[in-house]
Amino acid sequence: MNAIEVITARQSARAITLTDPAPTGDDLAEILQAGMSAPDHGAIRPWRFKIIEGDARVRLGDIMAEALKRKEPQSDDAALDNIRSKPLRSPMIVAVCAEITEDHPKVPPIEQIVAAGCAGQNVLNAAHAKGYGAIMLSGWVAYDDHVKGALGLEPKDAIVAFIYMGSTDGSGPVKERPRYAEYTSTWTG
Ligand SMILES: Cc1cc2nc3c(=O)[nH]c(=O)nc-3n(C[C@H](O)[C@H](O)[C@H](O)COP(=O)(O)O)c2cc1C
Repeated sequence: MNAIEVITARQSARAITLTDPAPTGDDLAEILQAGMSAPDHGAIRPWRFKIIEGDARVRLGDIMAEALKRKEPQSDDAALDNIRSKPLRSPMIVAVCAEITEDHPKVPPIEQIVAAGCAGQNVLNAAHAKGYGAIMLSGWVAYDDHVKGALGLEPKDAIVAFIYMGSTDGSGPVKERPRYAEYTSTWTG
């Protein structure tokens, strides 16, 4: 497939369908390196990738459960177990984060978050090009300061998304995509 075909054919896989092996070695390096070609106003390099696999996923689940308990102290065991299990859905998670430079003279935080989002999209496309499945997921945990702190971030920083990644058998329906013309117009002034 050429680049346009890869990008156009990319679609997310359900996290629960992703299996071992997750990308390793050169495959993983190439996938993450693709993120470095994201557009980046001011060359701030705001993106930070945190690889979470193996038992670290269990720890992330514990942290998410702690965050739920702090947010909603009345949460019952079922709710806590449910959130604890979330990171275990796939063999690997790449937390795509943005370390925000505050009060930058030219580049507001939103642009730094967009740059990190673009890096994440490059990772999705590269994973797809290499035959792996992936999906970006967030949820309230991505905005939670306890979760951010555990990942080495400050409240000002952002978890843009958790990219769940792994092998996929590629089965499942091919998604119908919208026609670009419905989202495009020519502005004539
Ligand atoms: C930043 C970001 C966060 C997302 N978070 C979630 C999420 O928490 N839950 C979800 O079901 N989809 C989420 N999505 C959407 C999925 O990643 C995915 O795009 C969607 O399921 C459509 O699939 P597609 O990528 O094949 O079009 C998120 C997308 C982005 C860009």
